Amino acid sequence: MSISEVACRCVLLSIISVLLSSLAFAESGPSLGEPVAPEEIVKWDISIAPDGLNLPPGEGDALLGKEVYRKHCVRCHGDGAEGGDGLADPLVGGAGSLDSKTPIRTVGSYWPYATTIFDYVRRAMPYDLPMSLTNDDVYAVTAYVLALNDIIKTTDVINSDTLPKIKMPNRGGFVIHWPGSN
Ligand code: HEC
Repeated sequence: MSISEVACRCVLLSIISVLLSSLAFAESGPSLGEPVAPEEIVKWDISIAPDGLNLPPGEGDALLGKEVYRKHCVRCHGDGAEGGDGLADPLVGGAGSLDSKTPIRTVGSYWPYATTIFDYVRRAMPYDLPMSLTNDDVYAVTAYVLALNDIIKTTDVINSDTLPKIKMPNRGGFVIHWPGSN
């Protein structure tokens, strides 16, 4: 094949891929410059503030969460959420290790707000099927992870009222420091 033929094929392939990606984009949302209706924004506005603002209705406890975990999480995070060889991050452990020479940062030891667990799991987990769980399932599995870390009891019910009240062990461990300030 001559160089000009190769170049021609490359250009053609690029045009096809640009066309395909713009088609995919057209299906997934409004185009640039188009006004977006408030009800469309609500569907995408799933961020949960540290104080729990925007948490949806629903609830769950660690017992139910254990089932959710077995079904949707264990294959990557492992039994007891301890992570390990070839597995995704551990979700438990590290208590009291942050100021040591070998800090172990997990959701339990490091994250300052329990509400972030709900937010993160709902938007990003399972890794290969994000946003596929119901809000009840996300509340339950959040409770399970918190209970595994001994932050709540297995019978505690987690919902939009109780989740923001949980004080994570490392809540005071983050210092806001702007360059130039003392
Ligand atoms: C297909 C594999 C897979 C599945 C299934 C999965 N996870 Fe994950 N999880 C990951 C990977 C990979 C990461 C790291 C992602 C990154 O750093 O961007 C992660 C990260 C996390 C974190 C953040 C950990 C940290 O310390 O930063 C949490 C919390 C979490 N997963 C919870 C869950 C829960 C709960 C479920 C079940 C509902 C689940 N995951 C299912 C692969 C998976």
